[in-house]
Amino acid sequence: MRRFEDEVAVVTGGAHGIGLAIVRRLAEEGAVVAVADLDGAVAESVAAQVGGLAITCDVGDRSSVDAAFATVLHRYGRLDVLVNNVGVCVLTPFEQTDDEVWQRSVDPTLTGAVRCIQAALPHLLANPAGGSVVSIGSVNGLMAFGDPAYSAAKAGLQSLTQNMAGRYGPQALRARGQGGPGVRFNLVAPGTVRTRSWTSDENKASALDRVARHYPMGRVGEPEDIAAAVAFLASSDAAWITGAVLPVDGGITAVHSGFVLDVDRW
Ligand SMILES: NC(=O)c1ccc[n+]([C@@H]2O[C@H](COP(=O)([O-])OP(=O)(O)OC[C@H]3O[C@@H](n4cnc5c(N)ncnc54)[C@H](O)[C@@H]3O)[C@@H](O)[C@H]2O)c1
Repeated sequence: MRRFEDEVAVVTGGAHGIGLAIVRRLAEEGAVVAVADLDGAVAESVAAQVGGLAITCDVGDRSSVDAAFATVLHRYGRLDVLVNNVGVCVLTPFEQTDDEVWQRSVDPTLTGAVRCIQAALPHLLANPAGGSVVSIGSVNGLMAFGDPAYSAAKAGLQSLTQNMAGRYGPQALRARGQGGPGVRFNLVAPGTVRTRSWTSDENKASALDRVARHYPMGRVGEPEDIAAAVAFLASSDAAWITGAVLPVDGGITAVHSGFVLDVDRW
């Protein structure tokens, strides 16, 4: 499948983990991908592998985000797809979550997506084929699995996605005297996915097998499981899908077996 031939995509946090799998999938399907990541060195090597563009970018900083999108537009002259993939989970018991700890999760995870959407929107709206935004939420935003700050930020992304879908669909644009095909906004909500956010911590890595047993599919997810869903929602195969929340979670939210990430035990 080459669903993104001649299209330009920006993937935030595209240097590692789920973002990296998304970059590879979109590139395999024909997109030119800008890898926007704090980790500029790894972004460079990923971009080189896929023939894309590396941009050192901090979604926590509006001027950095604005500069990243200006670079993409200057280089390619168009934008088709934005994937808001950055998410930060600061595992801290709620009682110890002060304002600074709360913001360390909520700012990059939720406000970072707002900054990227605002920087991307004029270009997505100007796209004659319509634009698409896919944000990476989490099952933590749908149900109580633990870590309130991260979970609240992910729940906020769901509301943001639904509000944007209404506001920037062609019907609302027409009502505001604007034309155009508009922009679709969707959210993928992964369950546990084997990335360094699990494997770099010995205690968490050893919990992965235990966690997998709660999943109806009998395993945790791989980054490619998420990338496949993102590519679907970003593509014209999902032309009539907007404002949707797609759990890609091995069935965990269907059964919610009551496991909670107990950070106090880690
Ligand atoms: N791994 C899981 O189990 C899981 C489950 C549900 C949802 N998610 C979500 O999937 C997304 C990716 O998670 P992952 O596990 O692949 O993480 P990861 O740590 O492997 O990768 C995150 C990437 O984001 C980049 N990044 C971090 N802060 C940034 C910032 N301020 N600006 C720009 N780039 C920044 C990092 O450099 C890294 O490349 C996140 O939104 C996460 O919340 C992950």
